[in-house]
Amino acid sequence: MKKVLHIIASPRGVNSRTLRIADALIKKIQKDLPGAEIDILDVFNEKLPEMNITRVKGKYMLMSGQELSGDAIAAWEEIKNHINRFLAADIIVISTPMWNFGIPYKLKHYIDVVWQPGFMFKYTETGPVGLAAGRKVFVVSTRGGDYSAKTPAEPFDQITPYLKTVLGWAGLEPQFISAQPMDANTEEGREALIQAAIKQAESISFA
Ligand SMILES: Cc1cc2nc3c(=O)[nH]c(=O)nc-3n(C[C@H](O)[C@H](O)[C@H](O)COP(=O)(O)O)c2cc1C
Repeated sequence: MKKVLHIIASPRGVNSRTLRIADALIKKIQKDLPGAEIDILDVFNEKLPEMNITRVKGKYMLMSGQELSGDAIAAWEEIKNHINRFLAADIIVISTPMWNFGIPYKLKHYIDVVWQPGFMFKYTETGPVGLAAGRKVFVVSTRGGDYSAKTPAEPFDQITPYLKTVLGWAGLEPQFISAQPMDANTEEGREALIQAAIKQAESISFA
């Protein structure tokens, strides 16, 4: 049975344009992989562990090649649960709008919790190695303006380069499905772009 983790980073629920596209992708996964388990992680409604002094201390233990010790052991339980939840998935869908040129802060918080040495990547003599390779990752995003390739605003887009880098660090190669511009557009123009992105999602084969 395939497992899908859907990480939702828009708080707009039924009004979310990003989620309309992501829902089409999830439906296509369910069509191609009947019985696929969908685990929904809504970062705006999830109580993510704070990366406080104790948890960050644990991170430095791992970065320097030590085991977790002292109060870091208990403090890391929630972090490990989130890492295990991520790594349990065969397919990961990240639904994110653009907020101030990048991802919403709650998604960044989630990444800061889960992206840990020894779990998602490790350092070797020949450089860092991703430990999450082999999973399919899709980033569904919408933006108020148009930052697509070769447009004047492309250099301002911090979603695509950032997620490529951070996911790549874990050995993952994301596929992007985007709709833009959403706000600098007419109702019809916006709808046409959402429909095009839905079509793109429906054209992906998981069978
Ligand atoms: C807090 C906030 C910040 C935003 N910042 C940007 C931005 O920097 N650039 C942009 O093009 N759109 C920006 N937008 C617009 C959203 O990216 C756009 O409306 C998107 O389609 C919303 O997706 P959703 O309906 O899935 O939530 C912002 C919206 C919000 C709520």
